[in-house]
Amino acid sequence: MQDLIIRSVADGDFPEQKELLRALGYDLAISSIAENVREIRARGGEVFVAHRNGRLVGCVAAIIDVRLGGGICGEIVSLVVAESERGLGVGKRLVQLAEQWLGQSVGVIRVRANATREGAHQFYEAGGYQLEKIQKVYKKRL
Ligand SMILES: CC(C)(COP(=O)(O)OP(=O)(O)OC[C@H]1O[C@@H](n2cnc3c(N)ncnc32)[C@H](O)[C@@H]1OP(=O)(O)O)[C@@H](O)C(=O)NCCC(=O)NCCS
Repeated sequence: MQDLIIRSVADGDFPEQKELLRALGYDLAISSIAENVREIRARGGEVFVAHRNGRLVGCVAAIIDVRLGGGICGEIVSLVVAESERGLGVGKRLVQLAEQWLGQSVGVIRVRANATREGAHQFYEAGGYQLEKIQKVYKKRL
């Protein structure tokens, strides 16, 4: 098995990233992915991808969030590893890089995982994350 290459996302990654994000439940146009990456970077964040054998096998975004009460916090979002590559340490390597990146500007990192994603809960606990609270999320379209 070839080594993993983990780096910042580049424009040529978007078509494969589109497929990965679909596995997370997001059906995005490539132009929307490009726009979202631009916006994440404009706000001090970064998007990382993992490649093996020339194939994109995982991605994660590291973003900065600010709350009036909670202050500045790093957040790990949109983490997904291709099904055939799960359990091989790809997610761990992506999160380590996101943590390194965020560690330059924040002291705490948060992650939100859907209550149904039990595998993700165990993954984050294995990585040293502790459950803080369970929430309901509401949305209103404007
Ligand atoms: C969650 C996910 C990103 C984990 O990635 P992965 O590459 O399979 O995980 P790794 O192989 O790096 O595992 C790292 C550690 O987490 C543990 N772990 C990973 N998945 C696990 C699972 N389903 N159940 C129990 N433990 C798990 C591993 O045992 C490993 O522990 P160790 O470091 O003590 O050996 C991947 O399963 C995935 O893409 N799931 C679907 C999308 C998703 O849920 N994303 C998270 C959104 S919040």
